[in-house]
Amino acid sequence: MLRISVTDRCNLRCGYCMPAGGVTFQSKDELLTPKDLARISGFAHRLGVRHFKITGGEPTVRGDLVEIIQRIRAIGPSDLSMTSNGLQMPRLAGALKEAGIDRVTLSVDSLRPDRYRDITGGGRFDLFERGLEATAEAFGTVKLNVVVMRGVNDDEVSDFAGLARDRDWTVRFIEFMPLGSSVLADGEADRYLVTADEVTSSIEAVHGPLEPVEASADPGVGPARLLEMPGGRGRIGLIHAMSRPFCETCNRLRLTSSGVLRSCLFDGGEVDLMPILRKESADSEDAGDRSLLDAFARCTAMKPEVHAARGGRAMSSIGG
Ligand code: 5AD
Ligand code: SF4
Repeated sequence: MLRISVTDRCNLRCGYCMPAGGVTFQSKDELLTPKDLARISGFAHRLGVRHFKITGGEPTVRGDLVEIIQRIRAIGPSDLSMTSNGLQMPRLAGALKEAGIDRVTLSVDSLRPDRYRDITGGGRFDLFERGLEATAEAFGTVKLNVVVMRGVNDDEVSDFAGLARDRDWTVRFIEFMPLGSSVLADGEADRYLVTADEVTSSIEAVHGPLEPVEASADPGVGPARLLEMPGGRGRIGLIHAMSRPFCETCNRLRLTSSGVLRSCLFDGGEVDLMPILRKESADSEDAGDRSLLDAFARCTAMKPEVHAARGGRAMSSIGG
């Protein structure tokens, strides 16, 4: 599976995602174009990659997002999904579905308007709710990503789980990861980590025992452990990246919006594809193919056995 970040920009400012000390965004000419993205995705597809996920920053801030999706859809992936904060979905959900997105995951860390605003650096919860409705309507269902942070939103875990009881949605709880020099990750990340086991206990304390779900029941579960509430309509996912790393089964590569192929979300190893792409216009495509094959092989070989638990790049530039 290839996760493609199409921009490092965002219309929100979540503390754990944006670097402390201000953000320096990539300038437009450092960004991969729709053509570059189609070239790399098409090449990955020839190597056997079938699942693609569009991420950011926030993908919907790119004006040419629909074109990007159409081009990747045309390659013939078996699954093409996207993550978003949802704010632009009332405007875009229908067009994204039509362009070829199969599934959407929305990020939301609080269901309380005041807290949502604080966590996102000014976001409006009512706008998120409208985006959520538009997404669920266009795609039939939706996944929610909740990063659980001690003392920030851990008291809302059972409220979030309630959504997976009442609606046919998957609510995924993500362990906080110390990435980039973000405001929260700086030095005291451990303070925020709430483990997946703790999350399970607090859900069970309110909603009763959870039962494991066959992973194959849900497309694109990735490394999530899936559970359901007896009688509930949706599913609960637990991403225990810190307390129980799942690196040995990880088959992901990540592409940053400036064309760097990464072996791991955390510090692992990376290969810059941009020089290959830029040289290719002068060279033959065959030579480009050989260079890309070499780059993919080198990057895959750098995948760590277990992650470094630290990452120098902010999530805004890797896209999760
Ligand atoms: N730890 C855990 N999850 C994170 N995300 C962003 N930064 C972090 C972090 N430091 C989440 C976003 C989004 C997903 C792509 O990754 O909230 O849901
Ligand atoms: Fe934007 Fe997502 Fe980062 Fe929040 S986590 S600032 S919504 S990219």
